[in-house]
Formats: sequence, C-alpha cells, structure tokens
Amino acid sequence: MLVSAKEMLLKAKEGKYAVGQFNINNLEWTKAILNTAQACQSPVILGVSEGAAKYMTGYGTVVGMVNGMLKSLNITVPVALHLDHGEYTGALACIEAGFSSVMFDGSHYPIDENIEKTKEIIRKAAEKGVSVEAEVGAIGGEEDGVVGGGEKADPAECAKIAALGIDMLAAGIGNIHGTYPPNWPGLDFDVLAKVQEVSGGIPLVLHGGTGIPAEMIQKAISLGVSKINVNTECQLAFAAATRKYIEAGLDLKGKGYDPRKLLKPGYEAMMDTVKEKMELFGSVGKA
Ligand code: 13P
Repeated sequence: MLVSAKEMLLKAKEGKYAVGQFNINNLEWTKAILNTAQACQSPVILGVSEGAAKYMTGYGTVVGMVNGMLKSLNITVPVALHLDHGEYTGALACIEAGFSSVMFDGSHYPIDENIEKTKEIIRKAAEKGVSVEAEVGAIGGEEDGVVGGGEKADPAECAKIAALGIDMLAAGIGNIHGTYPPNWPGLDFDVLAKVQEVSGGIPLVLHGGTGIPAEMIQKAISLGVSKINVNTECQLAFAAATRKYIEAGLDLKGKGYDPRKLLKPGYEAMMDTVKEKMELFGSVGKA
C-alpha cells in the first residue's frame, strides 16, 4: 500500500539520511526502482512529473500500475507516489486520483498567491492523508517543460510557506535540473542553513540530484535535507546501456529485438544507479 511521504521523511530527518525521489516514465522505470528499494530495504518516493503522467496516459493509469506492482512484486518497504512540480489543478487531480503525496510548485507565482494556493492544496490533501511539498525560489534548468530561473530562495518567504503546515519544503539553493555546467559554483550552504533555521524543522528537499558531488550531498543532508530528487541520472544510465546493446548489434541477433530483451540492459543500469544513490543518501536498511 502506498504511504504518504510524511513519516518516512521525518524519520530520515531524525536519522540524518535522505530518501531518494526517483522519477518514473513507464513500467520499466517503476519496476527497476521498486525492486531496488525492496532489495536495499530502503524507503522510496516515486516522482511523476505532469509530462510523464500525460505520457503514461493519465494519473489514474499511474496509480493503477504502481498499486498493481506493489502487490505483484511483494513490495513491503514504504513507497510514496508523488506528483513532481505540480500545477495547482494537477495537484488537486492527483489527490483525487490516489497519489499519496503531491508537490505544488507555486514558485513562479508572487509569494502571496503561492501561499493562498498552497493553503488550498494542504486543505484538500489533509482530507486524504496526502503529504504536500511546496517550493520557494525556482530550481534552475528545465524538466518536462517546467523551466526555472535558478534563483535562491528567500528565507523569509520560506518561513511563511513552511508555517502553513506543509510536510516538506523545496528551496532553491543554486541547484539545477539536468546535468551541471562545468562552471557551476555549487550549492549555497549559507542559504540552506538559513532556510533550515527558519522552517521549523520540516524536512527539506533538494531537487536536481543528478551530478551533485557526494560531499555536497552529505553536507546538504547534515543541514536538514531529507529528500533528494534524481531523474536525469536514471535517464542517462538507461540510454547509455541501451546504446551499448544496439551498437553491439545485439538487437539483430536471435530475438534480440524483443522489447523485453532490448530494454533489459537499460533496466539493469537504472537499478545500479538507484542503488548507488540509496547508498549515498544513507537510506539503505532504513525501511
Ligand atoms: P535531475 O533530473 O537533475 O536529477 O532533477 C530531478 C528533480 O529535481 C525532479 O524534480
């Protein structure tokens, strides 16, 4: 059964580790992440962007697929199904459809409008025990059409949003979706420390987990980050392994064109990536 992200993140915050949010795109992604979480005895959050949900034909399909897999794969570790960077209407739709967690990304609204809309989402989510993530200070880069300027969060605004009763807060601290440019100055730990100070102890979320060096990840966790989002790194691992299979001509040998064979190396590469991240985040054995 799906669970909200609230308890697993409070536990992570207390235990000084982070739970990974891994974005899903289809059946292979979902199966790779769930099987790895179970093997690692780690809690996990499946992230779904609005674009990925549309690709999978809708929120209802995603809920049905994930619930079906939890049962058929005998998954016993805590799993949350979380809308990533939701718009207001998308967040409400996911609460209705059976997601156990939603992010309402109101970072592109003026702060007062972000607050009003976040409050409404919190009210609707509470009726169904769904956890809520809010965002202040847009994450840089582009993910599924959501483009952020990469600004750093204003701690005073973070304090206002945190006080509304959200379960987790994403604050921009120089992090970027996708790969980091070679001249990236790194995460701004001064801003992170201030955000942590004013946000009443709620778990903080680090987006753009792909390519952040291990020491920065560890420092971020020590400063209150309890959820780290990873998307691009799984995509790169999947693509590289698939490329290798095809370049080796394996799809032309026997029934190597069978999608179940063709997608296997990518599936296995994703499992390795997810395991590596769970080890780095310290969530292995914490289920
Ligand atoms: P990356 O694609 O950079 O790993 O970011 C993922 C993310 O933050 C999802 O919201």
